[in-house]
Amino acid sequence: MTRMLVAFATKGGTTQTIAERIGARLTEAGHQVTVVAVQDNPDPAAYEAVVVGSGVLNGSVYPAGGEWVIARQGHLLGRPVGVFAVCLSALSEDPEARAAALAYPDQLAAVLPEPPFASIVFPGTYDPGSRTWWERIVARLNNAPKGDFRDWDKVDAWARELADRLAVQR
Ligand SMILES: Cc1cc2nc3c(=O)[nH]c(=O)nc-3n(C[C@H](O)[C@H](O)[C@H](O)COP(=O)(O)O)c2cc1C
Repeated sequence: MTRMLVAFATKGGTTQTIAERIGARLTEAGHQVTVVAVQDNPDPAAYEAVVVGSGVLNGSVYPAGGEWVIARQGHLLGRPVGVFAVCLSALSEDPEARAAALAYPDQLAAVLPEPPFASIVFPGTYDPGSRTWWERIVARLNNAPKGDFRDWDKVDAWARELADRLAVQR
């Protein structure tokens, strides 16, 4: 059993739902998991492994995600850390946009003290009705498609892979 922290940065709530799903799968696998928003400033010192994820706005993961990683670098050192990003460019037909999507988790990895032990991109959601007029304009500029594109099988598979790899490491 590994004590695990799943920290997330969200604006619309989708990354939280994915973080909670990862937490549920890790718990099922026998780990002791806490799922917390980075804004609550969780301390990785109390955990043996960490997962951190963020949504994406206008080509960048949310500043709160990177800021938490930077603030907690000292306690992330020496712990396995998995990173994930939740975005919509992964669904694009444009190869450049898809390549950009694959690189979003690297923005979190870049501020980790050591390379992440796992990294992945998940498709998210976009509901214009729950966004401000400014966000709707930015979303249109970024060609964000409307709808719920969460891929729960992909989330479950990644969480189970993390659980297996942590079991082997210990
Ligand atoms: C204003 C806005 C800008 C966005 N910009 C991007 C973007 O640049 N690239 C991308 O892949 N997805 C973009 N998205 C899609 C979001 O990353 C997606 O909606 C994600 O599910 C948001 O996660 P959250 O609900 O946890 O905040 C954007 C969405 C909005 C509303």
